[in-house]
This record gives sequence, C-alpha cells and structure tokens, in this order.
Amino acid sequence: MNWTSWRMRKASGGGKFPAVKPDMKVSLAGIELANPVIAASGTFGYGIEFEEIVSLERLGGFVTKGISLEPMAGHPPPRLIHTAAGMLNAIGLQNVGVKDYLEKKLPPMKRYPQCKVIVNVFGYTVSEYLGVIGQLNQAEGIAAYELNVSCPNVHAGGMAFGADPSCLEDLVAQAKAASRRPLIVKLSPNVTSIAEMAQVAAHAGADALSLVNTFLAMAIDVEERKPKLTNVTGGLSGPAIKPIALRMVYEAARAVSIPVLGMGGIVTAQDAVEFLLAGATAVQVGTASYADPRATERLVRELEQWCKSRQVERVASLTGALEAPRA
Ligand SMILES: Cc1cc2nc3c(=O)[nH]c(=O)nc-3n(C[C@H](O)[C@H](O)[C@H](O)COP(=O)(O)O)c2cc1C
Repeated sequence: MNWTSWRMRKASGGGKFPAVKPDMKVSLAGIELANPVIAASGTFGYGIEFEEIVSLERLGGFVTKGISLEPMAGHPPPRLIHTAAGMLNAIGLQNVGVKDYLEKKLPPMKRYPQCKVIVNVFGYTVSEYLGVIGQLNQAEGIAAYELNVSCPNVHAGGMAFGADPSCLEDLVAQAKAASRRPLIVKLSPNVTSIAEMAQVAAHAGADALSLVNTFLAMAIDVEERKPKLTNVTGGLSGPAIKPIALRMVYEAARAVSIPVLGMGGIVTAQDAVEFLLAGATAVQVGTASYADPRATERLVRELEQWCKSRQVERVASLTGALEAPRA
C-alpha cells in the first residue's frame, strides 16, 4: 500500500491494516545502509566509545569526528554552551589525527560490520585534506568519506572552503580524484545560496551531500560583558536550527541529482520524516545524543514504528515524497 492510498483509506475511516514490517534499507552513493539513521560527526566520538550505551549494530551508520592530518587539541574551554533551544559549540576539531585514528580507533569498529563507518575529513589546506584521504585509502572497514568544508569555528580551512564556490570546486575535484571511496561533501549552511553550493559540489564530483553543519553564532555573559565562548563565536545546533536546516535540505535536494543526507535538530521520528520528505535519503542525528545518549538507537526504533503505523512499506519511498501545498 502506498502513502496516498493509506491517506485515502484513513480519511474514509477505513479499518485497521495488518502490521507489515517495513523495509528500512536505503542506498546511498553505492553504500547499503540497514536503515537511514546515522550518528552525526562530532557528537558520537570515534563510534566505539558508544558500544556500551548504544547497540551499534542497529544504526545505519555513524560519522567520526573530524579527522585531520596531525592531532588537534581544539579550543580551550568553555567551548560548549546550552542555548534556549540548542547548543553552541567551539570544540575546534579536537581529534587524535589520522594515524592514531587508524591504529587505535577504527579497528574495534570491525565488531559492528552492519554499522557503516563514515570518516569526516578536515584540513586547513587542500594538501592536508588529500593527505588524510591518502592514509584512509590504505585502511579497510570504512564505507565513505565525509569532507567537512563547513566547520564554523576554526579560523582557516573548513568553512573558508565551503563558502567560496571556486575553492569548493577545486577541493572537491581533487578530493574525489584522490579518494577510493564514495565522497560525501558536508556543506556549510553559512552561505547565501545553498542550491548554488550544492550544484558546485555535485559538478565537481561529490557522490552525495550532507547538510547542515552548525550555524555561526555567539552568546554573551552580560554580567561579565564577555563572550561566553573562549573562541568568541561557535556553531549553533539542535532543535533551534531545524526549520532552517529543513529548508536548506529541501533546496539542495531539488538542485542536484545526487543523494542528500539531512540533519539539523532531529530529535523525533517525525523530525526525521520531515527531512526525508524534503528530499533526504538518510538523516544524521547530532545534538540529540547529548540530551539522550541513546537517541540514535531510539530513532531507528521510532522511525520503523512510524512507518509501520502508516503502512509505509519502504522507508526509501519517503525520500522527496513531499506533496504540493494546498492551492
Ligand atoms: C559538539 C559538536 C561537534 C561537532 N563536530 C563536527 C565535526 O567534527 N565535523 C563536522 O562535519 N560536523 C561537526 N558537528 C556538526 C554536526 O555533525 C551536525 O552537522 C550539526 O550539529 C547539526 O545537527 P544536530 O542539530 O543534530 O546536532 C559538530 C556538532 C557538535 C554539536
């Protein structure tokens, strides 16, 4: 039964349907995911730290925190602040560097082959990005790379690439040529036209896009008359950004023919379905894991339940299935 006939049956007061187990698989740039729920970069460590908390084998996948050529210490604290409906962070891409990642963090993830490992790649220069990709290419057990061209809280690299179309094109083309795996490009939302940046990345060879990263933002302590973050500005995430993120996913998905991974403030199954209807093939869950470390696994369960209760036989059928507004 498809969505329209389910709605017609519901509207006519139709009776109950036998529960079907929905097909939750999605396919993304040649990668098969058991379901469309992926833990977002920077909010799920290197994955393995969550093995005691989350049934990793139940997730479609997870994205590592940004991995750079050399280890990075990140910004000094305070670097995480709660805001009215979200979180402001200026972690500054703290990570162990690609060598340690490959030696110590990646190998234990082989215990969970169903949970696809996507490595988030960061650099200050094109050659640093290529250096990370070159080392990752030597390893097994990685499904794809996610190129972070969108970090709003480092002073060079990151967002500087994502905000300039010609820098973005050059970086994506070179990264694609260097990569032996599907290349997902994580776009910056801190741009005027997300559709234009999506098209630039797609034409340069991206296999998929992910969006959104955090929005450049700031908070002030009025008693101290000082910025709350040592870095002054940071990236806003969580429910506060969801409507903007959804609009951007919608615009990007309409502008390109490659798959889009949608994220920004997803907490419930309904949130996830909104992103799928807007055009996302899969969703990522970030800040929600801070409030509830099991949020990703809960989302897998609730999304399946949502599909079951609406007689949606294939979750993939929701992608882009947004109907026209009422005339
Ligand atoms: C503490 C923190 C660290 C993050 N680190 C990274 C990172 O290293 N690389 C990256 O591409 N995105 C990073 N992000 C962005 C998230 O992956 C995600 O794009 C963003 O937070 C929006 O999703 P959410 O509202 O569900 O958190 C980080 C977000 C947070 C909150």
